[in-house]
Amino acid sequence: MYRRTFAEINLDHLAHNIRVLQTSFPDAPFLCPMVKANAYGHGDVQLARFLETLGIKHLGVCLIEEGLLLRHFGVKAEILVFRGFDREGAEKIIQYRMTPVVTTWEQIDHLEEVAKSPVNIHLKFDTGMNRLGFRPEEAQKLYERLWQNKKIRVKALVTHLYNGEDAISDQGNSADQLRRLHQASEIFKPFEIFSHALNSAGILNLLKLRKEHKAEHPLLLQNWGLRPGLMIYGYNPVPGVNCDLKPVMSLKSVVNTFRHLKAGETVSYGGTWKAKQDSVIAVVPIGYADGYHRILSNQSHALFNGVRVPLVGNICMDYLMLDVTEAVRGKDLVQYKDQEVVLFGQDSFGNFLSPEELAGKAKSITWEMLTSVGERVPRVYTGADASFVIENVGGE
Ligand SMILES: Cc1ncc(COP(=O)(O)O)c(C=O)c1O
Repeated sequence: MYRRTFAEINLDHLAHNIRVLQTSFPDAPFLCPMVKANAYGHGDVQLARFLETLGIKHLGVCLIEEGLLLRHFGVKAEILVFRGFDREGAEKIIQYRMTPVVTTWEQIDHLEEVAKSPVNIHLKFDTGMNRLGFRPEEAQKLYERLWQNKKIRVKALVTHLYNGEDAISDQGNSADQLRRLHQASEIFKPFEIFSHALNSAGILNLLKLRKEHKAEHPLLLQNWGLRPGLMIYGYNPVPGVNCDLKPVMSLKSVVNTFRHLKAGETVSYGGTWKAKQDSVIAVVPIGYADGYHRILSNQSHALFNGVRVPLVGNICMDYLMLDVTEAVRGKDLVQYKDQEVVLFGQDSFGNFLSPEELAGKAKSITWEMLTSVGERVPRVYTGADASFVIENVGGE
């Protein structure tokens, strides 16, 4: 690493978050961590291999390509491919023993055409997201087509909450979502197989319902399978629901240089920040090309030697600047040589700066802050099992 900018991935925290799920839902019919989008930026091959050691048997990806990568690096777990596929994709899915989440009649045709022996599928229904999946009215026809089908075995039914954050409420969109979930539960019954529906928000709301001992609620209608994404990476998307999650990723860098500015001088392109006093500016080698959103220019903070300091001036492609005047006042700058900076996550003093805070300022969401962390930022794995991840990523 010639530029010391990296994303630290704490495997102990990931293991903790998985344990929270495993102990909270010991009877879940299905626990499928979502490792799509490079495991939300955390490194999909490494995390998939590690999740397998925690007893995880299913992993969710969006693209066939993502599944192929996992197989190439020796991941043995069942891989669910959520995005759909054409005929060629069907061949790859079968060849690499992945499980397609089927969302159209055309996909059923493709599988029947290419399958030489029965292929297991999950069948997805649309309950209001209006993105992918069969309409509930199609359930009967699907049942007739797939019941005792020689090429296709339906192993599970799938749906996705479009308003999971608000899944408990019975107002507005939430009322509509709950009505549709209720309807889905009904049409799923003849299939006599398990179904999965819950993302992190759904899971956290379910925990809340259980604590409140509310028995009559569509989330409790059946033992839904779980597809957690954000929460396994340590973030809770439902305000007001308590759950002991630990953040997995910290985005870090090391100060490149310090600049001494006279009052009135400006920083970075366009001179959008002007020093009100003689100032010390830390130049940090991470920029928007690394996924630190430019919209945060003059908006956000970072942790510098345990202190929150403001980001000043426009964020560049490869750099951003911090006003560290107060943090270093009266000190010799020599002591800050190679000073670590935390852009989000935890510093060595135990301070925490949340990507949720950055997301709020960037008019974004935590999911986007994590998945934005760029390809040229190395992922550094820490925790008791880090050596397993580093040493055991072998090819098939
Ligand atoms: C089909 C599906 N299931 C589960 C998830 C996980 O969602 P979350 O990260 O909110 O837990 C996603 C994420 O986008 C998804 O598309």
